[in-house]
Amino acid sequence: MPFQNRPHNFPLHADTSAVDDPYLAKPSLDGLVEIFFHDNLDFPRLERVQVDGVFDRNLVHSIQYNRPIMKFFVRTYGCQMNVADSNEMSRHLAARGLVETPDPDEASVMLVNTCTVRQHAEDRAFSEIGRLRRWKTKRPGRKVVVTGCAAERTKEYLEDRFPFVDLVVGAKSIENFAQMADRLLDRRETDEELDYAVPCIDDKVAAFVTIMRGCNYSCTYCIVPYVRGREIYHSMEQILSDVRDRVREGAREITLLGQTVNSYRSGENRFADLLRAVAAVDGVERVRFISPHPYYMTDRVIETMATVPEVCESLHLPVQSGSSAMLKAMARNYTREQYLSLVKKMRQAMPGMTLSTDIIVGFPGETEDDFRQTLSLIEEVQFDWGFIFKYSTREGTPAAKLESYPETLIEERHQRCLELVDRIALAKRSKLVGSEQDVLVEESSFGRTRTNYKVHINGRVAPIASGEEVRLRITNAQRATLEGELQNGNITFENFREKDNDHARA
Ligand code: 5AD
Ligand code: SF4
Repeated sequence: MPFQNRPHNFPLHADTSAVDDPYLAKPSLDGLVEIFFHDNLDFPRLERVQVDGVFDRNLVHSIQYNRPIMKFFVRTYGCQMNVADSNEMSRHLAARGLVETPDPDEASVMLVNTCTVRQHAEDRAFSEIGRLRRWKTKRPGRKVVVTGCAAERTKEYLEDRFPFVDLVVGAKSIENFAQMADRLLDRRETDEELDYAVPCIDDKVAAFVTIMRGCNYSCTYCIVPYVRGREIYHSMEQILSDVRDRVREGAREITLLGQTVNSYRSGENRFADLLRAVAAVDGVERVRFISPHPYYMTDRVIETMATVPEVCESLHLPVQSGSSAMLKAMARNYTREQYLSLVKKMRQAMPGMTLSTDIIVGFPGETEDDFRQTLSLIEEVQFDWGFIFKYSTREGTPAAKLESYPETLIEERHQRCLELVDRIALAKRSKLVGSEQDVLVEESSFGRTRTNYKVHINGRVAPIASGEEVRLRITNAQRATLEGELQNGNITFENFREKDNDHARA
């Protein structure tokens, strides 16, 4: 019987011998589960541990404690980079004995990770922080931590307007978060104890790994280079070690993250070399990356995508505008024609690939003709999906000195652009109905295709284990999330597994 099909109320024996991994459990031959604790952690008053979930690779899911411990809640605004930063900060807090909770009312530490790329994102984060004044007074010793890009941009203003905030960590200092959090948590004024805890495992099938921080570009609308600074690259060893950690925790798909992710370099190695190395890590079945800059989509990167089987044939490649005049005003470092020929080259190398993009409408000076060129580029490329942003003036950027358009004009262009992108996206999805797709299951009824469509799995008798790749027939594509069913809709979980095992034995 597969290990994860057994009931979860195993008898336990705890083994305090030293192992590298503080939260590893494995089944022993007699069917018992052994739990290993790190040798330099001691649990003075720990009386009971309870395993309430086990992954397919036999890791302990969570551990219950016999006394209250400090909990934290994380609210994240903005891009995937911020999501990855939040995960990293959560891991630091967990390693210090705090446990993440999905309920803000239970939390003693509230972490708000902010975004400033557009004014709207910043406003939302600030009103959330404002509401935390009351949250904080409800229980003594609560802490509010504000991090990220808006924190970097407005540190003094933040501290002035929200004096109850305990710690501000700007985006440039995220790598120092651990030490700063240590100092904050040392104050120990809370009503809960800060315990030694076994960190909760990040059990995601699809995990993010940050490979670089900052941006060396200076697109004229963009605040990112100011709040995140110049590019710094993690070493290949560090990245591969992070990838192995995520795989050990259950990840099968790795998304490499960076502001201009494909400008990565480390010694002699370039981004294509990193892609190959990550794809070669044992247990990695899929590799993706966001967000690339068109300038660094070199032939080697394209060839690597096309030939290394683990690298998925899907790309989010921000274009921002279809007008060469606007691209120049934005300092994007490519023309409309160069972008189009890049797309052609990629489609030749990867005929079934999906392509998505970011577009800004209403940049200062964008004429009706410039805007129509954006529409025509969208028609020509036939993006599979896209994100359309209304231009937002960011103080301190070069474009902020230019006169901006009235909101009504920007709104009108936004609507027209959205309609076109949505129409094309629907037409492209509709063509998938009836096709077969390999879907990597992330949760019991959700997964993703290699081309990065999210798929809801219909008609299952029993849930499919996350981390499995199954072949589905697409049955509905009306919404952004596709629907699909197993080709043999009647097979059950058990004989599906047996089929798999037979295959493995063959
Ligand atoms: N206004 C509107 N959109 C912006 N973006 C970045 N800066 C701005 C701005 N000032 C968009 C770009 C980028 C995405 C993450 O956000 O399209 O690709
Ligand atoms: Fe901003 Fe341009 Fe850097 Fe992207 S490449 S983060 S849009 S400056």
